[in-house]
Amino acid sequence: MPDNQAPQQRRGSASLRSASRTPLVAANWKMHKTVAETEEFLDRFLGSLGELEGVELVICPPATALAAAAERTRRSPVRIAAQNVHEADSGAFTGEIAIPMLRELGVAGAIVGHSERRALFCETDEALARKVPALLGAGLLPFLCVGETEDQREAGETEAVLKRQIEADLADVDASRLADVVIAYEPIWAIGTGRTATPEQAQEAIAFIRGLLAARDAGAAAASRIVYGGSVKPDNAGELFEQPDIDGGLVGGASLNVDDFVAICEAATLGEI
Ligand code: PGA
Repeated sequence: MPDNQAPQQRRGSASLRSASRTPLVAANWKMHKTVAETEEFLDRFLGSLGELEGVELVICPPATALAAAAERTRRSPVRIAAQNVHEADSGAFTGEIAIPMLRELGVAGAIVGHSERRALFCETDEALARKVPALLGAGLLPFLCVGETEDQREAGETEAVLKRQIEADLADVDASRLADVVIAYEPIWAIGTGRTATPEQAQEAIAFIRGLLAARDAGAAAASRIVYGGSVKPDNAGELFEQPDIDGGLVGGASLNVDDFVAICEAATLGEI
């Protein structure tokens, strides 16, 4: 059976999920794990995966551990992505990392627009509008994060914020490449707080984002992976991932523990725990 048919079959014909969307679970380790800790995690993780099929797995370690992680996973289905990237191929950008440098390591993509980078490191929509096409042009997978603050949600501005971010950040992505961007809906109030969005809240926001993509290209909207991030844990992953528009997760804290992360990856495979 072709890999891309598995999710639809598992979830049954009532699912709205497109057969072309393979679930994806990515670990965002943030500023955690040395090279030694990365290698130890990956050895245990790869050993625990067993027959896990029908889900794409991505680990995003800190920049210092990218090379070791890419090497450790070279003969596995697990892919490695960075947590940030600069759009220029080289230049006077102290502290930044360029796409050719990631490619050389065998890195498959990069998170861009994470709310911590937007809020703490001044990553702007203008920069993201350059980073996303630069990654696509180099054959790397962009993981574009969007999401509203608690104040914005309470003020009823969630959809306006998402619309502004999606339209600005993907402005220079051709419709033919839209489906190659993985979008992570990460409500800022749910990140690292233990306050996960309800499956209904996450589904509603992600369906809204898919509608924004559909306004540009219906085919791309149906094919794009849009995942949820924000306090995903083994005990809530199943109910989030079984929502029709939620194609997996971007996992922070719970991805630092092998057993928890394996359980979350399994939830994406099964549609439930
Ligand atoms: P969390 O982080 O799972 O710890 O909430 C998610 C993220 O920031 O990507």
